Amino acid sequence: MAKIIVENLYKIFGAQPQQAIKLLKQGRDKEFILDKTNMAVGVNNANFAIEAGEIFVIMGLSGSGKSTIVRMLNRLVEPSAGNVIVDGQNVTQMDQDSLVKFRLQNMSMVFQSFALMPHLTVLENVAFGLNLAKTNKAKSRERAIQALEQVGLPGCWANYYPSELSGGMQQRVGLARALAVDPDILLMDEAFSALDPLIRTEMQDELLKLQEENQRTIVFISHDLDEALRIGDRIAIMEAGRVVQVGTPEDILQNPADDYVRAFFRGVDPTNVISAGDIARDTYPTIIKTKGGSLRAAHELLSSSERNHGYVLDARRRFLGMVTAGSIREALESGKSDKPIDQAYIQDVKTVNLNDSMQDILPIVASNSWPVPVVDENNVYKGVVSKNRFLRTLHRAKETTDEQTEEFTV
Ligand SMILES: Nc1ncnc2c1ncn2[C@@H]1O[C@H](COP(=O)(O)OP(=O)(O)O)[C@@H](O)[C@H]1O
Ligand SMILES: [Mg+2]
Repeated sequence: MAKIIVENLYKIFGAQPQQAIKLLKQGRDKEFILDKTNMAVGVNNANFAIEAGEIFVIMGLSGSGKSTIVRMLNRLVEPSAGNVIVDGQNVTQMDQDSLVKFRLQNMSMVFQSFALMPHLTVLENVAFGLNLAKTNKAKSRERAIQALEQVGLPGCWANYYPSELSGGMQQRVGLARALAVDPDILLMDEAFSALDPLIRTEMQDELLKLQEENQRTIVFISHDLDEALRIGDRIAIMEAGRVVQVGTPEDILQNPADDYVRAFFRGVDPTNVISAGDIARDTYPTIIKTKGGSLRAAHELLSSSERNHGYVLDARRRFLGMVTAGSIREALESGKSDKPIDQAYIQDVKTVNLNDSMQDILPIVASNSWPVPVVDENNVYKGVVSKNRFLRTLHRAKETTDEQTEEFTV
């Protein structure tokens, strides 16, 4: 089951939310409702699920509803309708006591404005949530120092006050405070948006490193595409309160739901985002080399297929080599029909990794006449990328990013 499930979630700011929801269900939009009823649509019927351990980025222009949606996950904003389900528990139905406990133990939030308490030291700020949770003093101090170290702030900063720290360091404190209670969900609302570009990249790397050490479910709000692509496993795109598309960066880049989404992704170099694994296809014959795997059997297999290349794997589908109809025929003609298939391997066939970007594999795809085999980190065969497939993907992705319409400039 997904870690967080958002179901038919609405937020209307105004006097009669139910009336506004009715209008939304009749197909009216945010603008109409503001015009006619003076109510603001924050979120309009959001539905999505977030998996445990993923970094889920919510992206959209200012005012599209990102903060409202993330604050409804822990009910800092009370939903007007719908459900938020975390670990199978319906957050929208929790009473106040359970809610307070849930916020302290399961979800931490990091804010754009850092939201540190100016009269408390770095250490006291980080230990704040622990003290609320009634952890004993010594233990919470130890935990706070640990959390500071996790985010790259050594203990010598513990007794400084927030105002004595740079923005980047203050946000490290914000992050440490969130981590101190060891939550399995982190909510980050434009947490890095106020930082200088270099510091921002540094913090993104820090977050990815933390994630590698200890997989949390992270809901990360951003209005910045580069940031979303850099850290997001999946991205949700919001427009005027609606979630218009949810998918991996590659999905969205290759099949944008509409012009708004397309506009967001304009200018992204698709070869950086799409990986070999995304475009690999298992469309060529594979020959499993077992004890009996002979040249003759391979010859049969290739002759009965339309393809000129075959990929030889071991019993666990690890890549061993590539053969062609020609290389097999040659080996057969030189009287090696009883020899193992190794005799017919084409020399110097390079494999590429699942995670290599299209940009990484371009030189290899371009310089070989055969479809390039794609393997995972255990050398297990995942398919091939042919020149044809490479160019077709590029063409489609470029079409998506190049189509320009004046009115969608973001
Ligand atoms: N407390 C509030 N009262 C009235 N309207 C609000 C309030 N908070 C947010 N809104 C409105 O809800 C919409 C979504 O806002 P928000 O979630 O802050 O967007 P984002 O975080 O994407 O910039 C906006 O139109 C905003 O004006
Ligand atoms: Mg916001």
